[in-house]
Amino acid sequence: MTCWKKRLKAGALALIALALAAVPYWPWEAPDADLEAMGGAKIPDGPYVALTFDDGPKAATTPILLDGLAQRGVHATFFVVGQNVEGNELLLQRMEGEGHQIGLHTYHHKVLAELNASDFYTEVDELRAILTALVGREAFMLRPPYGMMNAATQDRAAAPIILWSVDPEDWSDRDTDRQVSVILDSVKDGDIILLHDIYPASVETALQVVDVMMARGFHFVTVEELFAIRGKTPENGKVYRKLPPSE
Ligand code: NI
Repeated sequence: MTCWKKRLKAGALALIALALAAVPYWPWEAPDADLEAMGGAKIPDGPYVALTFDDGPKAATTPILLDGLAQRGVHATFFVVGQNVEGNELLLQRMEGEGHQIGLHTYHHKVLAELNASDFYTEVDELRAILTALVGREAFMLRPPYGMMNAATQDRAAAPIILWSVDPEDWSDRDTDRQVSVILDSVKDGDIILLHDIYPASVETALQVVDVMMARGFHFVTVEELFAIRGKTPENGKVYRKLPPSE
């Protein structure tokens, strides 16, 4: 075989290996949520939004958020960091048991775009294995830390990549009043809201936003549920920032 043919063959094999590696984690399985119970005939009308929380869990703040969400009958999505899962395993199982969605946010909160393939798999696949052992699922969506990613991240993800469309930058000032107004001023049907469940002010922001928006007719769902409501199937490696009704 000529040199370029060998390279072509090696490249093709690598592509096939990548494709096979990507299969077990997705496609999407039907969500646990009973869509009828979430609004029955009103489902097509919405409006629907997904609250997402990064960087946890944290023993001091996450349970307060889970209590508040449970009191309001609201489901959210938690993109967890592997090193914070250690010691908080019961919180993860509580999230799963209460209908929340758990997603990947790497083991050490690393910038995925800066990692080589081996480190990428350590950061993402090790966390995925830990979560699978804890909650018995294999399919987890991925949120890259800082939203930073490149083509290699998308190729390696073996998961849909979930960014956000509403960001009050809650880490910057821990000011609930300001964060609530930023969210309420811009939020629309199908938005994905970014908060962090590691700050008490952000927990308070989330619960205040839920109360105001529910009174305005919004429904809070997980990212998975939002896909199901829109009739869309999340695809591995594809980037999603929001799921408005028209797209
Ligand atoms: Ni983060």
